[in-house]
Amino acid sequence: MAALEREDAFRKIFRLYRRRNTSELSGVIHFRPGNSAVKCAELRIGALSDEDARRAGLQPLEQWKGYHLEGYPGFLFISNPFLPSWQHRWVRQCLKFYPRKPNVCNLDLHMSPDQTGDLWSSSHNQLRNKSGQKHQEKSLLEKLRWVTLGFHYNWSTKKYYKQNYTPFPADLAELSRCVGLACGFSNFKAEAGILNYYHMDSSLGIHVDEAELDHHSPLLSFSFGQSSIFLLGGRSREAEPTAMMMHSGDIMVMSGASRLLYHAVPRILRHPEGGLLPPDLSHPPTDKDPGAHPLTEPCSPQDWEVCSAYLQNSRINMTIRQVLQEGACFPEDTGADTDQITAQASYHQEGSETEQEAKRVRTASDTPGEK
Ligand code: OGA
Ligand code: MN
Repeated sequence: MAALEREDAFRKIFRLYRRRNTSELSGVIHFRPGNSAVKCAELRIGALSDEDARRAGLQPLEQWKGYHLEGYPGFLFISNPFLPSWQHRWVRQCLKFYPRKPNVCNLDLHMSPDQTGDLWSSSHNQLRNKSGQKHQEKSLLEKLRWVTLGFHYNWSTKKYYKQNYTPFPADLAELSRCVGLACGFSNFKAEAGILNYYHMDSSLGIHVDEAELDHHSPLLSFSFGQSSIFLLGGRSREAEPTAMMMHSGDIMVMSGASRLLYHAVPRILRHPEGGLLPPDLSHPPTDKDPGAHPLTEPCSPQDWEVCSAYLQNSRINMTIRQVLQEGACFPEDTGADTDQITAQASYHQEGSETEQEAKRVRTASDTPGEK
C-alpha cells in the first residue's frame, strides 16, 4: 500500500481522518460564534445589495457569519448564509438540471449521450422507492460522481481548453457573483465549475487547484447535504493540514495566499443533529412565489422527495472558478490539442482504503489517484 504513495505529513493526517472514529474528532475546527480558534471576518457590507442577495437566495449581508483561520490569510469560511428553502433549490439544480447536456459528467466516459442525457428521469422512481436494502441496484444519479460546467476541466491533462466551453449556468454564475462581491472580489466571473457528488464512503484526494490561468481570483466552494471533514494544508505536502467541519449551506473561499494550498476531503460524516437530513433540509421547501425574475424556480415538493432520498446518504459540493484573468485569453498552445478533449477519470475515491489502493493499482496508467 505504502509503495504507491509517499507518506508525507498531509497524507498521514488524511489517513488518520479517513479511519478515525467519529468520537475522536476533537482536533477538528468548528466555525461557530465563541470558538476562540477562529476569528470573525468582516464582509464587504454595502458591496452586495439586500435585493441581489435575496434574488440569489442569500440572507442580507449583515446577517452572514464569516470567519478567518489563523495562519491561513485569504481563507474565508461563511457559515450557511442561505435563506430558507434555497438550499433545496441548489440541490435540485445539482441533481436535476446541471448534469444535463451540454455539461459533462463521469458517466459520459462509459455511456452514450442518450443514456446520460437525463439522469433525473431515469433515476427518480428508483430513488423515491428505495427500501433501504443494501444490495439494491444503484440508480444512475447515485453513480454520478462529478459534473463539469463552463470550461470543462480535463481530468487527464489537468487543463482547461478554449474550445471545450459550454455556457455556464446563469443562476449559479449570479450566486457566485454575489458571494464574490460580499468577499471583496467585485469582478469575479464564474467560468468553470466542478460539482462533486459524495456518498458516505467517498473521499476527495489531496490536491491543489492550479489549472485555472488566473490565480488571483478566488475559488468558491458550496456544500449541501451531509457534513464532511475538510483538510487545508500548505504549499507543500510536508505541511500538516488543519482539519475543519463543513456542514450543509457552508461556503468556503480560497483566495490570496490560500488559493494554491493543498486540500482534501478525507471523510463524509452524518450531520451532527441526528435525523436523516440536516435541520435546514429536513422539511420540504415552503416558498411558492418565484417573484418577477426568479433566478431559479422553487423546488417542488415532488422534486424534493427525490432530492431528500438522495441526500440521506450524500453530500454535494460545487466549486466555482474563474479561469482567465479579466480581458485575457487562452495562450495559443492550450487551445489547440482538441483530440485531448475527452472526459477522464478523476481524483474521486470510494470504499475502504484497501479498495482504493486496489483501484489505483488497476487504473494507475490512466487514472490520477489524486488531482
Ligand atoms: C474541488 C474541491 C472540496 C469539497 O472540487 O476542487 O476541493 O469540499 N472540493 O468537496
Ligand atoms: Mn479543490
